Amino acid sequence: MKTNKMKILAIETSCDETSVSVLEASGGFARPKFKVLSNVVISQIKIHAKWGGVVPNLAKREHAKNLIPILEKSLKRAKLLQKRKRPAAIPADQLKKISFFFEREPELLARFLAFIPDIKTPKIDAIAVTVGPGLEPALWVGVNFAKALNLVWDKPVVPVNHMEGHIAASLLATKPSAVSHQLSSIKFPAIALLVSGGHTELVLIRDWLRYKIIGQTRDDAVGEAFDKVARMLELPYPGGPEISKLAEEKFPAPFTLPRPMIDSRDFDFSFSGLKTAVLYKVKELGFENLREHPKMIFKKEVAYEFQRAAVDVLISKTIKAAKKYKAKTVILGGGVAANKELRRQMGSQLSAVSPQPNFLLPDLKFTGDNAAMIAAAAYFRALKGQFAKNPARLKADGNLILK
Ligand code: KG4
Ligand code: ZN
Repeated sequence: MKTNKMKILAIETSCDETSVSVLEASGGFARPKFKVLSNVVISQIKIHAKWGGVVPNLAKREHAKNLIPILEKSLKRAKLLQKRKRPAAIPADQLKKISFFFEREPELLARFLAFIPDIKTPKIDAIAVTVGPGLEPALWVGVNFAKALNLVWDKPVVPVNHMEGHIAASLLATKPSAVSHQLSSIKFPAIALLVSGGHTELVLIRDWLRYKIIGQTRDDAVGEAFDKVARMLELPYPGGPEISKLAEEKFPAPFTLPRPMIDSRDFDFSFSGLKTAVLYKVKELGFENLREHPKMIFKKEVAYEFQRAAVDVLISKTIKAAKKYKAKTVILGGGVAANKELRRQMGSQLSAVSPQPNFLLPDLKFTGDNAAMIAAAAYFRALKGQFAKNPARLKADGNLILK
């Protein structure tokens, strides 16, 4: 396969965002360059908000409903959508396999068969898909979609680990039309702090595609803790952005919250104690029965102190890891990487480390789940020829580990 310039179409359905992206990648390992031709993301937040968290079966249903319209939009934006004069007939044997892939997604099958025969095979080199970790029913929709596209378009499939995607996100260009050169500045060893609603981990990257998880949360993920604390404070889901907005008003609290495991000798994290400490404060104060004004003051105080506690722990462990492994690059990734305080403090504290590691952080539009980051991660896998040997048998794995 020609690897000096590749167009990769990627699919992401691991949680509550459905996304399809087309990425143009070139330069190989030595000088990788990315151009995001399209990155369409539909968030299901509003649908899950009333349940206070992501409901797997609802997520699955929404992915199945949205994938075809998103694919169409994504191809169109990337200027790769060409309608046929007459629909192409799908051969009977292919039809049988596609019906089998979408056995549990009849709506997606119907939409697939109504759309795909009408368009010409797009000029892409590979199809990338998130195979895990994430919510398994949600992941399967994307995986099955990739299988069906592989069958009709005859393009190879690159299975991608979602967390590798969050690492690659920091390497994407910030403007859709811009070409990213940032990656040429990645030097190994690198340390990545991955923080999302499901994960909190420190990853040691000794070389391209060589990952070792050196620390992770023993209980709640940090994003999950933000979401749970927000709920205690009667703030809407997802709580991360809400807490961080209130924290920015900088209302110092008359109490301190714990920084769990900040001095432990390992690189693990724990956020459930911090969350419980907030719960005690909420109970102690009789938060529910407070009047509006004191309630608002308390929310701002908790938000400020909770965020400081979480950020302190995340940064302290990352700096410790960067020093121990003499990291030349530190990477931040995942939904919580949108947190302004974390971005700012990580940057300033890393600048005091000597020798100073290069700090890569994703543009705000690539912190949350998106398919562009999956395509970027897939590029390096494709360079190594790591395509699915038998795409029809590809599996989703909710607990997939980065290695
Ligand atoms: O990576 P992501 O979009 O989805 C998962 O793979 O989990 O991360 C979502 C998480 C949620 O817990 C959300 O509350 C958190 O990221 N989050 C934030 C902020 N923006 C999103 N947490 C703290 N501060 C933010 N600004
Ligand atoms: Zn994620």
